[in-house]
Amino acid sequence: MTHVEDSTDSSDDDPTTGKGLFVEEDFDVDADVELGFEPAVSATGADPSAVKAARSRKPAVTSKRNSRRGLRRRLGAGAVLIAALVTMGGTYAAFATAGAPAATDNAADVAAGRQLYQTSCITCHGANLQGVKDRAPALLGVGGASVYFQVSTGRMPASGQGADQKRKTAKFDEAQTKQLAAYVQSLGGGPDLPSGSLRAGDIARGGDLFRLNCASCHGTTFKGAPLSAGKVAPSLNQATDEQMYTAMLSGPESMPIFSDNALTPTQKREIINYVQTLKVSKDPGGNGIDRIGPVSEALVFFIAGVGAVMAAILWIGAKSE
Ligand code: HEC
Ligand code: HEC
Repeated sequence: MTHVEDSTDSSDDDPTTGKGLFVEEDFDVDADVELGFEPAVSATGADPSAVKAARSRKPAVTSKRNSRRGLRRRLGAGAVLIAALVTMGGTYAAFATAGAPAATDNAADVAAGRQLYQTSCITCHGANLQGVKDRAPALLGVGGASVYFQVSTGRMPASGQGADQKRKTAKFDEAQTKQLAAYVQSLGGGPDLPSGSLRAGDIARGGDLFRLNCASCHGTTFKGAPLSAGKVAPSLNQATDEQMYTAMLSGPESMPIFSDNALTPTQKREIINYVQTLKVSKDPGGNGIDRIGPVSEALVFFIAGVGAVMAAILWIGAKSE
């Protein structure tokens, strides 16, 4: 065993022999990489000096210089290949998830939404969104986000009296839902629909935020759970990106409102990214690639790419023998 530290102290490192210099030079590449990794505090809680000692353990190399060089070159080529494949998959996923809903604010949408409101909502929520006593609350200031959530999940229009509305088949299509949202938004203001891609950032950070803010009610596996007083936090398995975002903005029933101060727009997107990605990777069906979405499609591209590279390597190997 030769240690990095040892080689600088030992008699081998005599600059006049040139041998010590050679050893040092050969080690420099590895030593730099390791310095970049040195944590201020050991994340594992292990004794830092023990960790350091373990890291500095190196095989004797002076007689194996060429084979190490070759190995490094091959590892380097592998890393480039993997980076290229990951980029390929990532780019595909980015393109495939583009096309999220735009904020609703144009006059034609407002006018169409007003029509729909007057036929389907007015009896409970009133002609001026002021609410109707013993029927339904006011909608002034709830915002387009709340309308989108309630209507797209089929909770509204309510099938009967009472506060406990469950998810059901939506009565209105996506365009009509946004028209209703635009109408309510235009009269009362409030949190509007988000725009752009609703997934972003780091999945691991999204996981932390989910466990901190959502898991107590919806469970760590998104299955949902009973709450006190006979209420239930539903499963998140059917929720789309838009429904998750607007649920956070509007806080239906006993769910809290997560304003942009509580969870920034980026943090909301990280949570969505986490939940939706895990839902896809948990999918037990395993059939019908078109059904389970862009992330798994990117994965298939990735696996197919790796397969092609393996085939090429085997072929080249066979030719050169
Ligand atoms: C049969 C009566 C009824 C009808 C019809 C109805 N609602 Fe409601 N709505 C309610 C009740 C009751 C609540 C309160 C439910 C709750 O607290 O979960 C509510 C709540 C809502 C909320 C949530 C408000 C908030 O505080 O965030 C929105 C948004 C909403 N309704 C929109 C609509 C729209 C849009 C329509 C028409 C497409 C509609 N409702 C039709 C009874 C109704
Ligand atoms: C205090 C408990 C509680 C917390 C915390 C909570 N929720 Fe909810 N959530 C609920 C309840 C209750 C409902 C059902 C509301 C209804 O039916 O009107 C709900 C509904 C939802 C829905 C609609 C699901 C569907 O398919 O209709 C989504 C999406 C959602 N929550 C996401 C979240 C996210 C994301 C977080 C964390 C940022 C979160 N919730 C935190 C209680 C909670």
